[in-house]
Amino acid sequence: MTIAEKNGDEGFKMGDPYYCSECERTHVKGKIYKEHLKYAQEIIDEEDPESEENLVEKEDFEDEEGLEDEEDFKDEEDFKDEEEFEELEENEELEDEEFLEEKDSEKEDTKEKDLTMQECIERVKTLPGVGEATLVKLVEAGFSSLESIAFTPPSIIQEDSGLGEKTTAKIIQSAMKKLNIGFKSAKEVWNHRKNISRITSGSQELDNLLLGGIETGAVLEFFGEFRTGKTQIMHQLCVNVQLPKEKGGIEGAALYIDTEGTFRPERIIQMSEALDLDHKKVLKNIIYGRAYNSDHQILLVKEATNIIKEKNIKLIVVDSLIGHFRSEYIGRGTLADRQQRINQHLHDLLRLTDIYPDLSICVTNQVQAKPNVFYGNPIQATGGNIIAHGSTIRIYLRKGKGEQRVAKVVDAPHLPVAEAVFSITEDGISD
Ligand code: GTP
Ligand code: MG
Repeated sequence: MTIAEKNGDEGFKMGDPYYCSECERTHVKGKIYKEHLKYAQEIIDEEDPESEENLVEKEDFEDEEGLEDEEDFKDEEDFKDEEEFEELEENEELEDEEFLEEKDSEKEDTKEKDLTMQECIERVKTLPGVGEATLVKLVEAGFSSLESIAFTPPSIIQEDSGLGEKTTAKIIQSAMKKLNIGFKSAKEVWNHRKNISRITSGSQELDNLLLGGIETGAVLEFFGEFRTGKTQIMHQLCVNVQLPKEKGGIEGAALYIDTEGTFRPERIIQMSEALDLDHKKVLKNIIYGRAYNSDHQILLVKEATNIIKEKNIKLIVVDSLIGHFRSEYIGRGTLADRQQRINQHLHDLLRLTDIYPDLSICVTNQVQAKPNVFYGNPIQATGGNIIAHGSTIRIYLRKGKGEQRVAKVVDAPHLPVAEAVFSITEDGISD
């Protein structure tokens, strides 16, 4: 039985308690990141005895009383969003009428990146049919921007927010109208592609293979056998995404969804120091979510929409994408069920890149040898065709000599079929 079933959990409803048997705590849906952030902070602080004052007693948030004590230890910045929620509830300030007139006249384009969370919510509030109660439902379910509403299938909005079918359809339609979504000219598509930014991998060769680095607005899948460097690349990207543009970064934060428990803050410290970065700042800009099972993993991705804007997240890592699904479905359900769940999960990720074009998503995938294949490459990514079709760029990794690794782009129509050799050293990924 999965945790979701144990919790009587068909759809994930924000605000409900969610018991997590592995970390032995009851999370509040919609707040898992905040709770895991504290948890991750503990790991980081253990590594870094200087910041003992930030150490959070685990007992403090094991029960409800502890949760009420949050004020005592929370870092203001980290919990900004909570204040925003509170503001939302009692917001008398929103001058909706004026806003409505002003915004209705102009068609808005997808320039979400210049808006704060509160501004995004205000835009949602201008949609016809969105009153105070509907707005709260939408925001709590993670639909706090016009983009997230316009790009999400109606069934998901309905299920997550509890809104009715007609209301949902109407809201989506108006969000699409406001964003001027419909057919695009090739010029618009080109403008979008021209604005793609890239994060350096740390290796010039690998960057060249990817025409300049890991691109935004896409999902990249790194697949390969064990110890081929998938996790190391993910760590390096979490550091590099924070670099200034002239050094190959995009000045953003990272969200790390760790399904295998292989995230190592000490490795981040090493990599940061090699780049002359303040490792405390770097660690602070990596939001960590440990996914203990596939339900939990799906939930963490769904909740990501709540924090992308406010934490300026430009990179989401899922390491690894399939592991939990693979082990959990061995004695349970059919392969078709599993594929369907993986497919939905992948589409949740792909949708995020539609909503946030300046976001890059990197996932890892184990490979298994297929002994019955006698020609071609006997190695194939687990998850089968669904992963292959859902991901936008796939990079196959294999071992070379010593610390060298070889990367090859597979199935990316706009990238050359070529290989790059890079190394994993003390300092991280390099040529
Ligand atoms: P699985 O998760 O098991 O499928 O493997 P993976 O592809 O994620 O491999 P990972 O990224 O963990 O790579 C492991 C390899 O990275 C090791 O074999 C080492 O060669 C190298 N590595 C990891 N940490 C360090 C380090 O601190 N210093 C150096 N020099 N190399 C490291
Ligand atoms: Mg790994």
